[in-house]
Amino acid sequence: MKYGYFDDAAREYVITTPKTPLPWINYLGNKEFFSLISNTCGGYTFYKDAKLLRLTRYRYNNVPYDNNGKYFYIKDVTDAANTVVWNPGWQPVKTKLDSYECRHGLGYSKFTSSKNDVEAKLLTFVPMNDNCEVSKLTITNNKSTAAKLSLFSYVEWCLWNADDDMKNFQRNLSTGEVEVVDGGSVIFHKTEYRERRNHYAIYGVNAKVDGFDTSRDAFLGAYNGPDSPDVVAEGKATNSVASGWSPIASQQINLDLAPGESKTFIFTLGYIENPEDDKWEAPSVVNKKPAFKMLDSYKTEEAVDKALKELCDYWDNLLGIYHISSKNEKVDRMVNIWNQYQCMVTFNMSRSASYYESGIGRGMGFRDSCQDLLGFVHLIPDRARQRIIDIASTQFQDGSAYHQYQPLTKKGNSDIGSGFNDDPLWLIAGTSAYVRETGDLSILKEIVPFDNDMSVAKTLMEHLKCSLNFTITHKGPHGLPLIGRADWNDCLNLNCFSEHPGESFQTFGPSEGPVAESVFIAGMFVKYGEEYAQLAELLGDDAEAKRARDEVKKVYDAVLDAGWDGEWFVRAYDAYSNKVGSKECEEGQIYIEPQGFCVLAGIGVKEGLAAKALKSVEERLDTKYGVMILQPAYTKYHLELGEVSSYPPGYKENAGIFCHNNPWVSIAETVLGHGNRAFEIYKKTCPAYIEDISDIHCTEPYVYSQMVAGRDAKFFGQGKNSWLTGTAAWTFVNISQYILGVYPTHNGLSINPCVPEDFGDFTLTRKYRDAVYTIDVKTNGSQSGVKKLTVNGKEIEGTVIPYEAGVKEYKVEVIM
Ligand code: BGC
Ligand code: NOJ
Repeated sequence: MKYGYFDDAAREYVITTPKTPLPWINYLGNKEFFSLISNTCGGYTFYKDAKLLRLTRYRYNNVPYDNNGKYFYIKDVTDAANTVVWNPGWQPVKTKLDSYECRHGLGYSKFTSSKNDVEAKLLTFVPMNDNCEVSKLTITNNKSTAAKLSLFSYVEWCLWNADDDMKNFQRNLSTGEVEVVDGGSVIFHKTEYRERRNHYAIYGVNAKVDGFDTSRDAFLGAYNGPDSPDVVAEGKATNSVASGWSPIASQQINLDLAPGESKTFIFTLGYIENPEDDKWEAPSVVNKKPAFKMLDSYKTEEAVDKALKELCDYWDNLLGIYHISSKNEKVDRMVNIWNQYQCMVTFNMSRSASYYESGIGRGMGFRDSCQDLLGFVHLIPDRARQRIIDIASTQFQDGSAYHQYQPLTKKGNSDIGSGFNDDPLWLIAGTSAYVRETGDLSILKEIVPFDNDMSVAKTLMEHLKCSLNFTITHKGPHGLPLIGRADWNDCLNLNCFSEHPGESFQTFGPSEGPVAESVFIAGMFVKYGEEYAQLAELLGDDAEAKRARDEVKKVYDAVLDAGWDGEWFVRAYDAYSNKVGSKECEEGQIYIEPQGFCVLAGIGVKEGLAAKALKSVEERLDTKYGVMILQPAYTKYHLELGEVSSYPPGYKENAGIFCHNNPWVSIAETVLGHGNRAFEIYKKTCPAYIEDISDIHCTEPYVYSQMVAGRDAKFFGQGKNSWLTGTAAWTFVNISQYILGVYPTHNGLSINPCVPEDFGDFTLTRKYRDAVYTIDVKTNGSQSGVKKLTVNGKEIEGTVIPYEAGVKEYKVEVIM
């Protein structure tokens, strides 16, 4: 069952009922100011950092779902005996609407709804170059008589630090402060501005208002929720000025609309910083100049429409960088629109702020952000470059890493541990992708601090060397890399041995033991060790490249020696040197990660093991909704394995369909030339292909979720944790570079598709470095292998189109 449809021409998903199984959200903002907005107008806003600079409050995991947002209440008092209050997004009053539509587009959301012949059209977005969210609301009277309406706006301020805001009530119920100007048209939230903050927030409307409220209790009534505000029931704002407690911003505008008449209002929610010496215009009165400047920029409809157009042009341009046209509508839709859009969002957010990540727990993940880069780097390479430097700046001198850093301060922290031994190698992955995309070797020579300390700075290439050496110097008894606290699978905690509830699996116990080893990290080392060697060669350091390749060979051999279980790759060795993910185990006999990653790294291909491993995946881990992470599921807690065995069978890392590593297996299939199977795996978790089962899948049909419940779970097929997942980047890498086969190498683009037999011919546009490639592929019903490659009329050998500086257009014909 579906709850909407894709409008590809508009690049929107159109939701036709507010009652989706879960809130279906969108992200607004591309640079530093961000909002989340659901299909019922729920959501929250922050500047740069969802923990430290939160503008509006959200109530996570609450009842009802999706509690709090930026709401508009329309009170229709035309018929005094039958007044009705409703919201354009249905929530929070939940009055049954006569019509409802929500269109989530790229960086904006639009709502159109109606009740009793009054129509509301709401557009909300964050302009490209301003720190604000703009909402344009048009109300039209479609009655045959005059309409008498009152409009009320509502946002609830967060007192900046979202963590403190929901914990430290003894303080923060006394700190809230506001200023109200223009009779309430503009409300300033200035909590803590009197002391160390140099910023405040505003909520303004471009019209005269008939009243305002800034005290939540005055607006709602102490025992009411946003679904039944006293002020709206009374129809009269109280002009409350908050002092402590919970400051809000609400404006009342009374409207008399003739039949057919419309009125439009523009509401702006903004973040303003003032210089330290220019904070005040009078004692206790904030300097409002920059706020009025901001409000001025959006006071007319034309200005708002222009800002929206800028946003749309921005996306036009970005999505022109990789564009496919094929007979496979759903592939085109995901590749051209939604997968790339999600890559942008994951790049911006890492795993920090969604409806499932509270924004206060995890900042930017080291491993997560490095992987997000892989799906983003082609869009805005300069931002990827800065991100690489930021991430590397948090690395320790021995190559290891904090697991995360805070976006505002860019400093690493150990809140969710450190000592995850895969982390260092992901830095090589991200850097290699950047250099292959841009050819910019200068990044490798950038001087980058360790742990943000410039006195111990070295070049980025030296950082990568530290990453490589970390693995080389941290190996266990089988010559395989030590796992540390965990590897990519945060839940494989082989040195943890936690016996007491509440201990964090990611921080409890020693971060490393002398024995527990990871075959997955071995796969990573083989892949990224080779990519490191290529970077060394580009810098002319052949000796270093040779050293890296020699080390890669050792790990490769160690995998064949100790990492092969007969039919598939072993997952790890535990702290007793027993195998994990082996036929010898009672539960958890096969894990997906080493099968995908070792094969995509090329391990066991020539030995014939790769094909066997993937066959085992198909036989043991495959389901109709995707490939499970392991089987059989752990039915009991294994002290020596940690969090992986803490989840009920079928959920999360314990035999869930962890979407992130499905593309690894799909890529692995392309390494063997299996186009049919690679695509089959691609389709199973692909949102557009499972739109029809939205009632089972539950999460948004336009983006990937972290997990789909596995076969052992009660709710098999149900998605969880949508939006912020490495699945976005890895799937884009899979479909764009491996299945469609346009892979950036250091020497130029390689074109080597691996598609299902019935995929048909396709055309691709790829902007790469400063040239445009138009690529026509005739597939001839073949799954893989390029028979003939012609570039600007000349046939070339192999699959790599040599990049020639100065050549602006490459017309490429591929015959498979
Ligand atoms: C989750 C993992 C996640 C980790 C982050 C665990 O509870 O299962 O998916 O990576 O927390 O700390
Ligand atoms: C989600 C985390 O963000 C990611 O870093 C990790 O690799 C996966 N969970 C698997 O545990």
